[in-house]
Amino acid sequence: MSVEDVRDAYARYADWIDRFDWLNRLATGRYRRRQFAGVTGRVLDVACGTGTNFRYLPATVDLVGIDISEAMLARARDELDRLDRDETLEQMDAQALEFDDDSFDAVISALSTCTFPDPVAALREMERVCAPDGRILLVEHGKSDVSLVARYQQWRADAHYERAGCRVTQEPLELVRRAGLSVDDVDTAQFGRITTITASPE
Ligand SMILES: C[S@@+](CC[C@H](N)C(=O)[O-])C[C@H]1O[C@@H](n2cnc3c(N)ncnc32)[C@H](O)[C@@H]1O
Repeated sequence: MSVEDVRDAYARYADWIDRFDWLNRLATGRYRRRQFAGVTGRVLDVACGTGTNFRYLPATVDLVGIDISEAMLARARDELDRLDRDETLEQMDAQALEFDDDSFDAVISALSTCTFPDPVAALREMERVCAPDGRILLVEHGKSDVSLVARYQQWRADAHYERAGCRVTQEPLELVRRAGLSVDDVDTAQFGRITTITASPE
């Protein structure tokens, strides 16, 4: 799928995703909290979607969220209102970020690399805009390390990709390594389906 195809798919699903955000938080909230609670300074949330990450970030950070889908960003604005936060949201392609080099103290992203047409390019962009002493913090989903679960994922993979542009069998750590980021910490959960990665710019 192209960037435009993915954007259109999320325009169709934005309402549905927003309605079931509580389920998303139930499944992934504890990993988001653990991974993102310590960020400070200027923070970029890449592919912020409906703003699911926002409530896990300290109120003191200066937050910028970007997403390719204006429909998803509209829900993210509602989430900022609910949280009574005044932050910046912009429509942007993660693969071509319109920010200066080294301009964020932390770059965070959740459940996103699976939908980028070129995830390695997006990860290199995250590295480019992250300050040399900053961190890139990811909560990603991917192929399970339990063979029965992985086989089910493989069986569903093509249909899921055609519907939502999401690659359920991707390997997030492999992508991060291919992008050339320096991996500081990795953890997996839910039969290897969830991977949290802390990385630094090289
Ligand atoms: C599965 S949702 C995840 C949203 C949110 N980060 C979360 O954790 O719930 C994937 C998001 O990636 C966005 N996205 C996909 N391709 C993108 C791109 N090239 N640039 C920016 N955002 C993109 C979609 O619009 C969607 O909001």
